[in-house]
Amino acid sequence: MLDIRTKHVGGIPNPAGTAVIDRPELSDGRLLWRIARDSQVLDVNSPYAYLLWTRDFADTTVVARVGTEVVGFVSGYLRPDAPDTLVVWQVAVDSAHRGRGLARQMLDELVTRVRPKGARFLETTITADNDASNRLFSAFARAQGAHHARSTLFTSDLFPDGHDAEELHRIGPWPATTTQ
Ligand SMILES: CC(C)(COP(=O)(O)OP(=O)(O)OC[C@H]1O[C@@H](n2cnc3c(N)ncnc32)[C@H](O)[C@@H]1OP(=O)(O)O)[C@@H](O)C(=O)NCCC(=O)NCCS
Repeated sequence: MLDIRTKHVGGIPNPAGTAVIDRPELSDGRLLWRIARDSQVLDVNSPYAYLLWTRDFADTTVVARVGTEVVGFVSGYLRPDAPDTLVVWQVAVDSAHRGRGLARQMLDELVTRVRPKGARFLETTITADNDASNRLFSAFARAQGAHHARSTLFTSDLFPDGHDAEELHRIGPWPATTTQ
């Protein structure tokens, strides 16, 4: 069983077999790109996009490290027009590390991080055929005790390449915190 910890200021030991949930660094950008590519499910964006993400959206992105390897990430941002909403852009865990709660733990950490900034909702889009992702976010909503609404957002005809429709999942609100 994988031991999962959250990195705090000052750091903690990171022995093999322990996953540490951490902020991304610039040097992680290429690793995020690799994990997205190897998932064979996610849309693979340019290496530049992942690099940019580790610079400009590091506060709303988490990585999971095992030893010196990055084995998973959740990338997100607070919507410029609705800063109470965390949009999760991509979630991926290396196939060797799936089924151990890593994605859930990364989501939990991200939400813990953005709640003091006033976030009360999480949004993400998922294609109907992505069972793992649908179950991940349903389990997350259940654990939060939060409402989980689904609606159509990006229909197939909006894409230039026959991409499947992306359904919007909106989870929340969770209670506001008082530490803003
Ligand atoms: C989706 C993904 C990130 C899940 O990562 P993970 O670390 O294995 O997920 P967890 O172990 O944290 O599981 C969290 C929940 O999702 C469920 N789940 C995860 N993968 C599942 C699968 N393949 N089939 C069914 N349920 C699954 C788990 O049962 C768990 O629910 P529970 O808490 O009710 O038991 C991983 O499968 C992946 O990287 N897939 C390819 C990329 C992708 O599809 N990303 C999502 C779209 S952005």
